[in-house]
Amino acid sequence: MVNYKDLGLVNSRDLFAKAVKGGYAIPAYNFNNMEQLQAILQACCESASPVILQISKGARKYANQTLLRYMAQGAVEYAKELTGGKGIPIVLHLDHGPDFETCQSCIEYGFSSVMIDGSSLPFEENIAQTKKVVEYAHQYDVTVEGELGILAGIEDEVKANAHTYTRPEEVENFVKATGVDSLAIAIGTSHGAYKFKPGEDPKIRLDILHEVEKRIPGFPIVLHGSSSVPQDLVAVINANGGKLKDAIGISEQQLREAAKSAVCKINIDSDGRLAMTAGVRKVLTEKPEVFDPRLYLGPARDMLRELFIRKNKEVLGSAGHAWD
Ligand code: G3H
Ligand code: 13P
Ligand code: ZN
Repeated sequence: MVNYKDLGLVNSRDLFAKAVKGGYAIPAYNFNNMEQLQAILQACCESASPVILQISKGARKYANQTLLRYMAQGAVEYAKELTGGKGIPIVLHLDHGPDFETCQSCIEYGFSSVMIDGSSLPFEENIAQTKKVVEYAHQYDVTVEGELGILAGIEDEVKANAHTYTRPEEVENFVKATGVDSLAIAIGTSHGAYKFKPGEDPKIRLDILHEVEKRIPGFPIVLHGSSSVPQDLVAVINANGGKLKDAIGISEQQLREAAKSAVCKINIDSDGRLAMTAGVRKVLTEKPEVFDPRLYLGPARDMLRELFIRKNKEVLGSAGHAWD
C-alpha cells in the first residue's frame, strides 16, 4: 500500500472548495505518455494552475499502471523544478473507474482520487457501488467522483446513441446516500471529437446544470466530454493528410460560463490528442526526412503546452490559482 501523501500528491477536496468559491474549474487532463505529461506540467506551472492528472482504463492498459504512477510521482518533482521549488497541487485521478476492484487497486498504488462510473447502472445499484468505493477510499482520505446520467457517444467501448441527461431531482439523494466528494453530470457534453452533427445546435444544457446547483448548492460538479475540438487544429490535421470530417466540440464560452458556477472539474482529452496529432502530422509532412521521434514529438508537445496554457487562462479560469 502506497499512500499518495507520501508521493507529494493531494486529493481534490480543498481544490474543489476553492474552485467553487473562486468561480473557476480545475483542469483534468488525460495522459498516456511522457510527452503529454511534460506538456501538462509545463502548461500548468507556467500558468500557475492546479492540475488533475487523469489515467483511464485504456491508459493503464497502454502504458502500464506502475509506470504511470511513477511518472506521476516524478511529476511532483518536475513541477518543483519548473516553479523554483514551490510546485503546484497535483491530483492523480482514476478516470472512469469501472468497478470497486479497479478503484481499490488504484488507491493502493497511490492515486489520490478515483472516479467510480456507475452511470450505466440502475439508480439503486449505482448508489450501492459508489457507496462501497467511498467507504473504502475515505479510509485513506482519497476523494471519490460519482456519475449520474449518461453521455452520448463512446465510453469504454460502450456506445450510447443519445444523451440521458442527469435528472436534477435525483442528485440530492445520490450525493447523500453515497457520500461522494464530487458528481459528474450529463448535460449534453460527450466524449470524442464528434459531439454534434453539422447543422445541430452545438449547445449544452446549462439550464440542467443550474437546476442541479439549486438542489445541491456549492457541491462540486464535474463535466466530462468537454473538449472544444479547436478548428485550427482540425485544419492543420486535414491539411497534412488527416481525415477528420465534421469534428465539432463544446463551445469554450459555454464552458467558461459553467466553470464560473459549481463546475469545478472539466475533463479534456480529445483536444490534447488533436494538438499532438496536428504537431506530428505537420512535421512529418513538411520534413519527410525526419525519423528521430524527438523531432516530431517535441513540436507536438509544444503545441499541447500552448493549448493547455490557453485553456487554463481563457476557458477554465484556473490560471493563477495554484497557491490560493
Ligand atoms: O473518457 C474517456 C477518455 O477520453 C479516455 O479515453 O479510454 O481511450 O483512454 P481512453
Ligand atoms: P473529451 O473526449 O471531450 O476530451 O472528454 C474527455 C473525458 O471526459 C475524460 O474522462
Ligand atoms: Zn469522461
